[in-house]
Amino acid sequence: MAQAKDYGLGPHTYPRGWFIVAESSELDRGPMAVRFFGQDFALYRGESGRPVMLDAYCPHMQTHLTASDSATIVKEGKQIEGDSIRCPYHGWRFGPDGQCDDIPYHDGGPFPRSAKLGCHHVEDVMGCVMVWYDPEGKPPAYPAPKLKEWDDPSWVRWELDHLGELNLHPIEILDNMADAQHLGPTHGAPCEFFENEFRDHVYIQRQGGVHAGYGALLISSTWYTGPGLLLSKQSFGDVVTYELIANTPIDDGKVKVWHAALAQAKGDTPTDEDIEMARQIQAGALDAFSSDFSIWQNKGSAVRILQQPKDGPFSKGRRWYKQFYDLAEKAGEYHKELNGVLHIKDFPAPDERLRDFEADLFTEA
Ligand code: FES
Ligand SMILES: [Fe+2]
Repeated sequence: MAQAKDYGLGPHTYPRGWFIVAESSELDRGPMAVRFFGQDFALYRGESGRPVMLDAYCPHMQTHLTASDSATIVKEGKQIEGDSIRCPYHGWRFGPDGQCDDIPYHDGGPFPRSAKLGCHHVEDVMGCVMVWYDPEGKPPAYPAPKLKEWDDPSWVRWELDHLGELNLHPIEILDNMADAQHLGPTHGAPCEFFENEFRDHVYIQRQGGVHAGYGALLISSTWYTGPGLLLSKQSFGDVVTYELIANTPIDDGKVKVWHAALAQAKGDTPTDEDIEMARQIQAGALDAFSSDFSIWQNKGSAVRILQQPKDGPFSKGRRWYKQFYDLAEKAGEYHKELNGVLHIKDFPAPDERLRDFEADLFTEA
């Protein structure tokens, strides 16, 4: 499959941004071995509850810290001490900053200076472990996105759908944001209005229309916060839901995808019935999303798009995406060039209903 350089992305191979690396509940079951951005990582939760992500390979003899489950200290659940982790081979211990803080047979004196692992900034956000990944190693340029409904007890918290891996570059997932003309053929919901907006590291799509099958008005405001996290507020008739679609590069041209949806309970706290209803709403949203997903599973790489005048602004969307593969210091140039609203020939802009609908979106944790 096509890789970053084929799409003219670079100089970095992997984009800067916030990405999901696991569901929080997975980490509660013990340390994990994960691979993203062409690298292997050890992911675990410290005893304080803090998630930690370190480069996987121990500087002593290159053992993967969390990939083997047969070592005695792993089987006996003794690998984690405080927020530190011990290597399963000879028991060297590393802190959440990656620094070696104990060698069981140490001979006194300081630990070797090179006894250190790369550490990465991770946080629990909306039931997901999210990493700030930056090939230049800089701190987060913006906060991870968070829906305020996540902390509102009248909303049912999601559990992620783990959709697995796609042999496709994530730029082809991003294309959906500009893709007004697939809504009819792929989803059976052609739109009456459509627009895109670029706002620095945020890329917005607003669309809607009366759904042919149900006769009800469907409107959505969908926004990427950086290259890996899509959130969408949707209303169908009088039901409002939020959807999450997340992508994280595994290797160049290969990506992992998750999906989820939030729905509101009838009362102040969710009953079993509300939880069941929310799970059904998520399943319905997944069913609609599966139409895109199965196309991505089977398509070739659209390194070039045979653009038509009434196609959406694919190339502008891809240009917005390129900022995350470029040097961090150049981000401002992309924002200056791209910020603003875009319309497609013959597609009306959204009306006032949508402005009210998204009044307080794009909030960040
Ligand atoms: S390889 Fe990790 S402690 Fe020896
Ligand atoms: Fe779609």
